[in-house]
Amino acid sequence: MSKLTAVVLAAGQGTRMKSRLPKVLHPVAGRPLLYYPLRAAFDAGAEHAVIVSSGHAEIERELVKHFSASRISIAIQSVAKGTGDAARIGLERVETERVLIVYGDTPLVRAEDLSKLVLALDAPEAPLVSLLACELEQPFGYGRVLRDEQGRVQAVREQRDLATPKEHAVREVNAGMYAALASTLGDALQRLVPNNAQGEYYLTDIVELVGGARCSAVLGHPDVLVGVNDRAQLHSAELRMFERIRERHARAGVTIHGDAYVDDSVELGPDVVLETGVRLRGATRVGRGTLIDVGCVLDDVEVGEDVAIKPYSVLSKSQVGQKAQIGPFSHLRPESTIEEEAHIGNFVETKKTHVRKGAKANHLAYLGDGDIGENANVGAGTIFCNYDGFQKHRTVIGAGAFIGSDSQLVAPVTIGKGAFVATGATVTQDVPDNALAIGRVRQENKLGYASRLRGRLQAAKDAKKNAK
Ligand code: UD1
Ligand code: CA
Repeated sequence: MSKLTAVVLAAGQGTRMKSRLPKVLHPVAGRPLLYYPLRAAFDAGAEHAVIVSSGHAEIERELVKHFSASRISIAIQSVAKGTGDAARIGLERVETERVLIVYGDTPLVRAEDLSKLVLALDAPEAPLVSLLACELEQPFGYGRVLRDEQGRVQAVREQRDLATPKEHAVREVNAGMYAALASTLGDALQRLVPNNAQGEYYLTDIVELVGGARCSAVLGHPDVLVGVNDRAQLHSAELRMFERIRERHARAGVTIHGDAYVDDSVELGPDVVLETGVRLRGATRVGRGTLIDVGCVLDDVEVGEDVAIKPYSVLSKSQVGQKAQIGPFSHLRPESTIEEEAHIGNFVETKKTHVRKGAKANHLAYLGDGDIGENANVGAGTIFCNYDGFQKHRTVIGAGAFIGSDSQLVAPVTIGKGAFVATGATVTQDVPDNALAIGRVRQENKLGYASRLRGRLQAAKDAKKNAK
């Protein structure tokens, strides 16, 4: 197979986005817009991609996070003089025999359609250029594929250059993506002239220049036409992308109820269940059989198998081991490690804390900068007092220890293995293994005192009323 380079046209100014961020870097399901056409081009066999851009340095910086830098080069088109001019600038960098031209602002372009375009060049009649076309009920606004009596492609004509009613009625539109022999395309691009309604160099004119008979049109999915020019279009393109991602996971054995929103980068095992309103982002990976219930948000979280993450829990940059239970309403902040079979319950917040196998903190706790040993139990209302206003300190709880409710563990502090901390303690000193720590005032019962107190308080209230 001949070698292929993709030229990605992305030099449009994107002013309608009304944004500081270059248009093609706006996120769609967690990846920059431009990522998707690039990946589709690579999946369709391109070895290298030349991105024609107006010169934002951020674009290259962002792309090399997703693709190897050696596969990408940038060509600058400083003034947008049309798709033909952009293609010519990109082609200067192409060294392979074949070239694939795609747009950088069409995130829904499918690799399979681009592959068809490239394969068309191998057809027996061997066209020099193949172009991607779509059949539309409402073709208004798009360039039309005009054919002769024999049905051979003749030309592509832009909406505003259409002449006859017959041309207006053509429903086959040009998607603006092409595969071609680089030398043929180069010759044609040199011959472009901007003699059209917009005074631009039209890439579409290559069809007539090459000679219609040497062009073939390949029919693709109309999603390829979903270009992003403003944020309303960005919104609908992203919704469509989320649908596609849901479909991909559902076919791979994930049950999805309603409208979970899953970034393109997220990995899900079979028998994962996603409830309504779940949002999974970034490098999140979820193991087989895990339930993520209503309204949970996971950002860069690694979740093991058969975990239950109950409603409205928020987890970021953390790890959860198999069969653990989280939530409802738990908050795992970065660098939390929850080992297998551990339980983190409602209104429990962790940060940089390692909760070891089978340990439990079921209700209302702040557990920051800590290490909780296997099978330890942390009672309701426990606070790790980890911050002295200047530095963070660690709290270590040994295996099997029991922390009574409403205790404050003032870090740095270590509770030994199997130790007990009595409820309501303020622990400022280490507790040895198997010791009991009590840190509260001893209780005293004054018999009958309550009745006498009530009498006194009532008398005081009456005296005040009578004085008025
Ligand atoms: C183009 C096609 C039209 C097709 C339509 C499909 C031409 C003349 N027309 O029209 O037949 O139906 O796409 O969407 O090609 N760009 C540059 N530099 C430029 C101009 C454009 O890089 O000077 C890039 C844009 O960033 C964009 C792409 O090329 O990614 C397409 O440009 P756009 O202006 O949207 O083309 P259309 O007028 O929509
Ligand atoms: Ca367009």
